[in-house]
Amino acid sequence: MNIILMGPPGAGKGTQADLIKANYPIPHISTGDMFRDAVSNGTEMGIEAKKYMDSGRLVPDEVTIGIVQDRLNAQDCNQGFLLDGFPRTVKQAEALDQVLAQLGKRVEAAINIDVPEDILVERMTGRISCKDCKTVYHLKFNAPAKEGVCDKCGGELVQRSDDQGETVKKRLEVYAEQTNPLIEYYQKQGNFYGIDGNRSSQEVFKDIEKVMGSL
Ligand code: AP5
Ligand code: MG
Ligand code: ZN
Repeated sequence: MNIILMGPPGAGKGTQADLIKANYPIPHISTGDMFRDAVSNGTEMGIEAKKYMDSGRLVPDEVTIGIVQDRLNAQDCNQGFLLDGFPRTVKQAEALDQVLAQLGKRVEAAINIDVPEDILVERMTGRISCKDCKTVYHLKFNAPAKEGVCDKCGGELVQRSDDQGETVKKRLEVYAEQTNPLIEYYQKQGNFYGIDGNRSSQEVFKDIEKVMGSL
């Protein structure tokens, strides 16, 4: 199953990816997580990416397309993949189509999680996530059993540096300008599935399972 999870910042892509992963044997590929790993490892790419991330802008297409292309060539993508946060520009979507065509594959479902803007802000500003296993929590909507500690692995829960004030606002603007056009891109391809994300995670997941079951 070759699937893309789309939607504005804070829509619940990472949360749904965790649920999907637990039920389907396909790797979760989050470009945001990949960049955050590079930042914490202090690599050259991480240092460069951090400038864009902390200001709420997109990392340049050349960099992003390169890392996704390498990742999709890995063995574990043979049975499919779940892309989260990629593509985010029309250029990235076109590049993805080309890379997949070379591998004899295509995007089977572009699943878009839709959530109103005021809710997105509340979700992002209350988010905490595990430093180690990346599981996502929310101070109000999905709190861990023990404050500051990951239920799954005992890792430390931290707030993301881009989940504050002006950066959140900028990320929403960048989404509207550069990523929203992808809805039309996939509608034209006939593999677009829109999902109402303003419900409980379990309800959203049920709809995603319906889509996956229909493929
Ligand atoms: P990335 O990490 O992908 O961030 P994003 O797209 O802004 O999305 P988020 O991770 O913020 O939200 P999400 O949809 O995963 O929501 P979550 O499940 O966590 O990208 C970060 C940065 O990296 C970008 O700004 C850019 O600079 C760079 N980057 C990444 N990809 C790139 C690309 N392709 N090209 C260029 N640059 C790129 O949920 C949010 C919160 O809500 C959580 O607290 C969660 O517990 C809660 N929640 C989730 N679902 C529900 C629900 N149903 N009800 C109540 N609460 C919920
Ligand atoms: Mg995410
Ligand atoms: Zn953890």
